[in-house]
Amino acid sequence: MPDNQVIVIDHPLVQHKLSVLRSKDTNTNDFRNLIREISILMGYEILRDLPMEEVEIETPLEKMKTKMLAGKKLCIVPILRAGTGFLDGLLQLVPLARVGHIGLYRDPETLVPVEYYLKFPEDMSSRRVIVVDPMLATGNSAVAAVERVKDAEATDIKFMCLIAAPQGIKTFHEAHPDIPIYTAAIDRELNDHGYILPGIGDAGDRIFGTK
Ligand code: URA
Repeated sequence: MPDNQVIVIDHPLVQHKLSVLRSKDTNTNDFRNLIREISILMGYEILRDLPMEEVEIETPLEKMKTKMLAGKKLCIVPILRAGTGFLDGLLQLVPLARVGHIGLYRDPETLVPVEYYLKFPEDMSSRRVIVVDPMLATGNSAVAAVERVKDAEATDIKFMCLIAAPQGIKTFHEAHPDIPIYTAAIDRELNDHGYILPGIGDAGDRIFGTK
């Protein structure tokens, strides 16, 4: 894939569900269900280039050659905590995927990510890794998370978010031009607190009902 790729998944179902999700009147339960549904629809697109291999199976009537997923296994890496909102949907698509976790919080003053947790499966180099976080805002957390994934020797990496800000895309691709960004929308800008406008508000709070 060429450098600096941003793929906006503009499928009508994704766009419709995202619009409902954005509304301040959408409650926690609906928000969680919508984010799960969107992650399934986005995952379907993001995984469309998974390698396949020919295998022989037997139907009740005869033997046949058919295709099944081959080679690389998946690892989903949510950035805690909002990234876990994507997990249920993606694991529904690929139940055998492993899950690595990166705990990063944004220092509210500097907006710089501070790492507090890291746990990956051992064989990251042989897996396709999808780093997930609903909001690509400043881009700092995503840059740091992908750095850790690269440190773990993964080479096949994609980044998935729900909404990206232009600044986040720029910062991310300055650090990792080789990693494609999959998003459902590119919003206008960041406010002074690093929130995306118009955005969805605080993704973690909306998923977990903490505000
Ligand atoms: N994180 C969020 O949860 N929301 C934003 O708008 C930006 C970062």
